[in-house]
Amino acid sequence: MPGHDGHDLVVVANRLPVDITLDDDGKVGWKRSPGGLVTALEPVMQKSDGAWVGWSGGPDLEVEPFDADDMYLVPVTLSADEIERYYEGFSNDTLWPLYHDVIAPPAFHRQWWDTYRRVNQRFADAAAAQAAPGAIVWVHDYQLQLVPRMLREQRPDLRIGFFNHIPFPPLELFQQLPWRRAVVDGLLGADLIGFQRAGDASNFIRAVRRLTDYTTRGPIITMPDANGKPGRHVRAASFPISIDSNHFDQLARTPEVQARAKEIRADLGDPDVMMLGVDRLDYTKGIRHRIKAYGEILQDGRLDVGHATLVQVASPSRENVGAYQDLREHVEGLVGRINGEFGEIGHSAIHYLHHSYPPEEMAAMYLAADVMLVTSLRDGMNLVAKEYVAARSDDRGVLVLSEFTGAADEMSSGALLVNPHDIDGMKDSIVAAAHMDHREQRRRMRRLRRRVLSDDVAKWSDSFLGVLTAMPSRSEYV
Ligand code: G6P
Repeated sequence: MPGHDGHDLVVVANRLPVDITLDDDGKVGWKRSPGGLVTALEPVMQKSDGAWVGWSGGPDLEVEPFDADDMYLVPVTLSADEIERYYEGFSNDTLWPLYHDVIAPPAFHRQWWDTYRRVNQRFADAAAAQAAPGAIVWVHDYQLQLVPRMLREQRPDLRIGFFNHIPFPPLELFQQLPWRRAVVDGLLGADLIGFQRAGDASNFIRAVRRLTDYTTRGPIITMPDANGKPGRHVRAASFPISIDSNHFDQLARTPEVQARAKEIRADLGDPDVMMLGVDRLDYTKGIRHRIKAYGEILQDGRLDVGHATLVQVASPSRENVGAYQDLREHVEGLVGRINGEFGEIGHSAIHYLHHSYPPEEMAAMYLAADVMLVTSLRDGMNLVAKEYVAARSDDRGVLVLSEFTGAADEMSSGALLVNPHDIDGMKDSIVAAAHMDHREQRRRMRRLRRRVLSDDVAKWSDSFLGVLTAMPSRSEYV
């Protein structure tokens, strides 16, 4: 339970790190939530005694705050209607495609926006109720962009940070949003706004310059006070996120995981080359481009199913949103066609798994895979790329990585970078990865591991919270 003064650190994210289930007797159970945000934040929270405010994952679940996995969790209730308009609608059918280069067309609906505002207010109220005087409140991701300002209005004593886990779009795309000014003002309620890449931070600053008359100087935006004089400062900068690299490295070294990796390869018929893709089933991940390229490689005879196979894990995601239903049909049609055309008895071209798996099984798959394919069309960071590297203490394996991921900014010297729109170029890189000799693999993987093991998630959160804490508090302005 929180002390009567509240918590010194409050994390606010759309999802709690666990999805809550209620059994017939009303007893609360839970399972891990999907996605990179939870992967990154869980270890941060386990080391502090802060509170995590978030949605429980289901409709109309009224659950009291509770402790789980060394974290104090504060559930926010959403009705079925709010899930449809705020989560599936505005968050995942307006903002998500708009912020990912309009790969799918964003839908703009005023009712969705009204619900987004209302739900953001509920999260802000819940966070305000948990925060001790002068506490740090750290708000996460595109679902909650109005929370910083809403919080500041009721709790000017707080230090407020915001981190955007997905890209921030170029002004030319952001301008499509009818509520663009309200979103910018919502974010500017924070003291510190963090982005994955320097490019995202500069896109945001450009939007501020174009849509407001606030002064900006480098990463600093100066807000006017009540009299129109220069008031508080907001900093917008990049803080590339990471994973709990050592934990993942250790997990992949356990005898159980090592044995399971061998078993996976044996079950696949001990191929010379096992390729692996691991994604939420999302149109931003370039799964269709990857599978198309792989099918053409088989067609061209550059690899054959007797020696190579592709395992594609596509974990179920946002299944009520139309674009995701269409994607699933496309991907499954494509996999079926390629398997029908090139598969042989005992040799599938593609092993397609529409499931999600626990970290132990993921670590075993990474260890088993000779080539890891991360071919996103746009991706804030992509933590799968970092997990693959953290798992490979044997210095083996090749990472094929899209230029359009945040991870590419940090991993370009060890990975084979690809443009997923350039199918011929991607085919060449996949074939090169399949044939790469062990010395070259080791040389590249060592570079990648140095980076991933030193720049871990603790460093990320320490650096964000360090900058936030060092910023002048509100009382220093008045
Ligand atoms: C990405 C987003 C997260 C989101 C996750 C899973 O990682 O940045 O905010 O939680 O995807 O998506 P979902 O819609 O299932 O929460």
